[in-house]
Amino acid sequence: MSYIRSIKALMILDSRGFPTVKVVVTTDHGIVAEASVPSGASTGTLEALELRDQDSSQYMGKGVKQAVSHVNSQIAGLLVGEHIFDQERIDKMMIEADGTENKERFGANAILGVSLAVARAAAHTANLPLYRYLGGCHTFMLPCPMMNIINGGSHADNSLDFQEFMIRPVGAPSFSEAMRWGSEVFHTLKKILKSKNLSSSVGDEGGFAPMLSSNEEALELILLAIESAGYRPGEQISLALDCAASEFFDKTSTLYVEEKFKAQGLPFAERTSEEQADYLAQLVERYPIDSIEDGLHEEDWKGWGYLTEKLGKKIQLVGDDLLVTNPKLLAKAIRQKVANSLLVKCNQIGTLTETLEAIRLAQTSGYSAVVSHRSGETEDSFIADLSVAANTGQIKAGSLSRTDRLVKYNRLLSIEAGLGKCGRYQDSNPYSLEKKKMQMA
Ligand code: PGA
Ligand code: ZN
Repeated sequence: MSYIRSIKALMILDSRGFPTVKVVVTTDHGIVAEASVPSGASTGTLEALELRDQDSSQYMGKGVKQAVSHVNSQIAGLLVGEHIFDQERIDKMMIEADGTENKERFGANAILGVSLAVARAAAHTANLPLYRYLGGCHTFMLPCPMMNIINGGSHADNSLDFQEFMIRPVGAPSFSEAMRWGSEVFHTLKKILKSKNLSSSVGDEGGFAPMLSSNEEALELILLAIESAGYRPGEQISLALDCAASEFFDKTSTLYVEEKFKAQGLPFAERTSEEQADYLAQLVERYPIDSIEDGLHEEDWKGWGYLTEKLGKKIQLVGDDLLVTNPKLLAKAIRQKVANSLLVKCNQIGTLTETLEAIRLAQTSGYSAVVSHRSGETEDSFIADLSVAANTGQIKAGSLSRTDRLVKYNRLLSIEAGLGKCGRYQDSNPYSLEKKKMQMA
């Protein structure tokens, strides 16, 4: 038997230099484990509440003193003496003591830090790697890394309204080979950008953030980089988008307005919901795209229905702001046949137990699950272990630069080495272009 002896939180800084919460859990056997909480920029309105101090004299109001204090006082008071393996009970105790729908009393940043640190302490206590402790003996799947090599939207000061242009090494024989392919494409893209006098500085997730005049230009540059690096687009490396469309939906006109193109004096579009879905369908016809996240606004369920009807049998349609890792919203999407994939961000829901519940619901309902970082990250690599533990088969953790991104991929390289012959690199996107090709052959 091993019990929680102490829980202590402190404020640290995330990859954007803003405060976030770190939690350290100690057991009566002297095990010490910690976890840090990430933070989004393009957040969904129904996410669990990230508690910020709102004291404008400190950190532009983004301090987390209250969240830290809630861990050190109420939550520690509640959980000290609890059995370290009682993850579900511990998470439920915090949910109940908080008592609000969106965890606004303690703050989801306080609750999640504790939830993840408890899981790590339990894994250490069991003397198991975190993925093995969380996933048990049927854990074997190394995820396809979705690498965000061109950043836009609210993650970059460039002209692009779409937030993420990702590559997916679907044809790689192993996770480490997938990372090599990604790295080679990333560095080739850098050379191409330089040769065209385009900026190779990076955005929040470590992808390039050049000034471009259309989404098509970004996709063409990536295709050129894939080919120049010696790979076959579509067959070996497919493309994925996160439009983060809630960020450029104009609520007054109810149109999708390409604000950033507009601000740069570039040709821009204003599309109705159906036109936006049709535009995405055109991109899918033209480019080897097999996954689109948040193609439409989080409240545009009707539009999402249309989009799913149009594209849901061809590509993966990932709900991020739409579903916010919330089992209830996912259940609604399943009922209404909206989207076919769940983006998984632990801090959107606020506990490990609820995160795993959402993943299970997705997997048992024919939806894929993509484990994801946030744009504001730390050196914590918990999500790498989570993606393997839950056999999700997909992770997006940013680009091939910045340690806050690579720490997740590097952890997966270590897990791959640890799994040895038991490990299998497997892309869980049922619409991946590679699979289609194999089925046709
Ligand atoms: P966020 O971006 O962490 O800023 O929300 C990531 C995403 O939208 O997927
Ligand atoms: Zn997203």
